[in-house]
Amino acid sequence: MQSSHKKLFLFFLSCIVLIFNYNNSVFVTATSELGLNYGLLGDNLPPPSNVINFFKSIGITKIRIFDPNTTVLDALRGNKEIGVTVGVKDQDLAALATSEEAVNSWFTTNIEPYLADVNITFITVGNEVIPGPIGPQVLPVIQSLTNLVKSKSLPISVTTVVAMSNLGQSYPPSAGKFNPQSREQLVPVLKFLSQTSTPIFVNIYPYFPYASDPVNIHLDYATSNTETVVVQDGPLGYSNMFDAMFDAFVWAMEKEGVKDLPMVVSETGWPSAGNGDLTTPDIAATYNGNVLKHIVSGKGTPKRPNSAIEGFIFAVFNENQKPAGTEQNFGLYNPVDMKPIYKLF
Ligand SMILES: *[C@@H]1O[C@H](CO)[C@@H](O)[C@H](O)[C@H]1NC(C)=O
Ligand SMILES: *[C@@H]1O[C@H](CO)[C@@H](O)[C@H](O)[C@H]1NC(C)=O
Repeated sequence: MQSSHKKLFLFFLSCIVLIFNYNNSVFVTATSELGLNYGLLGDNLPPPSNVINFFKSIGITKIRIFDPNTTVLDALRGNKEIGVTVGVKDQDLAALATSEEAVNSWFTTNIEPYLADVNITFITVGNEVIPGPIGPQVLPVIQSLTNLVKSKSLPISVTTVVAMSNLGQSYPPSAGKFNPQSREQLVPVLKFLSQTSTPIFVNIYPYFPYASDPVNIHLDYATSNTETVVVQDGPLGYSNMFDAMFDAFVWAMEKEGVKDLPMVVSETGWPSAGNGDLTTPDIAATYNGNVLKHIVSGKGTPKRPNSAIEGFIFAVFNENQKPAGTEQNFGLYNPVDMKPIYKLF
């Protein structure tokens, strides 16, 4: 090779190396900020140990599991870089709500065996059970578990996961207000969490309001795919529904005197199939990609501009034992071969 060609070749080579490093570092930073919901309602899911290795290979450091599944927790042993949120099963709440002894024994069985080598950061008590018939069981269990982890000086926070159905009103965001049953069941929980600034976990799915009114709601607004302000709410301008839903919940909390309680987005996502043109891999990729950008940007919402969004996408896999239709199609990956359903990272 002639010397000038050699120089040119080396120049291009270094460009390629630079581009590769650049992409690689963006990729790692991005995924390390993002949480994933690891649901298990499928009969064709890969073994948990493969899944945990896969998370590590793509740089995931936060996951949520819906119950203290021993196979998953065993697979997490030694992988302390992954922070784990573990759910208490809804059907266990009744027994736990009336007996501290039962709570102690739940903890001894399900959490204690993993404390040495699994990084359990949160325990969530009940998944979208407030507002509802077993909603009142949540607070006593949160209280008992909080006392327990405190008495053992463990760095675990205890909270619950709730849906937007707690809002009786949500539009515009500043009108956000809890419905009567949520005022009874949720507000005491929020006040308890406030004492220790423990975040409330809220599931936020712009897909559902969009799917119920795709004629009047712009797809770009629902998928966070525009910078244009669509909803002007007093001094606050909203270009996407995710922020509007988040802030409606913040406003509702404020009206109950709960001012600065942190909120984690425990679930968000978009199905890639199941409802015609509204659910394509492209739209799902757009929405989840924009959520990821929002999280990585470190920016908050119009009402909380200085608090970065902490969030978990639902879900890792399409789960074939969920109700048929969109519910089975929220996954980022196909369980059978662990191939992406669309490109996100
Ligand atoms: C835990 O998850 C695995 C893998 O999906 C499943 O086969 C197993 O039945 C679950 N175990 C329990 C105790 O639920
Ligand atoms: C445990 O997980 C949390 C949350 O993801 C993280 O901040 C922390 O660094 C992890 N701990 C270890 C020992 O890696």
